[in-house]
Amino acid sequence: MNLSAAALAWGLVGCAGIVQAWAQAPVATERAAASVERGRALLLQRQDTGCVLCHQIPGLPAGGAIGPSLHGLAERSTLSQARLHIADARRFNPQTIMPAYLSTEGLHNVAAGLQGQTILTPQSLEDILVYLFQPTARTPVIAP
Ligand code: HEC
Repeated sequence: MNLSAAALAWGLVGCAGIVQAWAQAPVATERAAASVERGRALLLQRQDTGCVLCHQIPGLPAGGAIGPSLHGLAERSTLSQARLHIADARRFNPQTIMPAYLSTEGLHNVAAGLQGQTILTPQSLEDILVYLFQPTARTPVIAP
């Protein structure tokens, strides 16, 4: 799926089925090209993504505590759930303060130059996921 096809699919967000299908399958190209290094850099950005402002993230300097720690994410969440959560956390909690990173639906006060743009691209979302789901991001095992 190319970017414009992804944007088109996302534009039809009213149809939960489409989003569900998108979350589960057609990211194969982005997934294959995903980069742990790019994911790390994206997670660290304070201005563009801001993830580290709200989350503790494995392998990164101390982060914020507004959202849950992302340590051990792979043990409590599937890849699809995490993908949907980052794409649009309102699906899990309509009152969430986490920004919808891959949606332009229902946003208010968007600067003129940024209207219709998502914060992440499907590729940068996969980069983030491949970082968060790498084995070293699991909960550290503390010896008894
Ligand atoms: C303004 C604060 C804020 C920012 C910025 C933010 N999040 Fe969140 N995040 C939250 C909160 C709060 C939750 C708890 C559930 C909810 O309200 O959606 C959450 C939940 C999550 C979850 C689900 C955690 C779990 O235990 O299942 C993931 C994954 C996640 N965030 C990843 C990210 C990523 C990746 C970014 C950056 C692209 C990010 N978040 C940016 C506040 C934030």
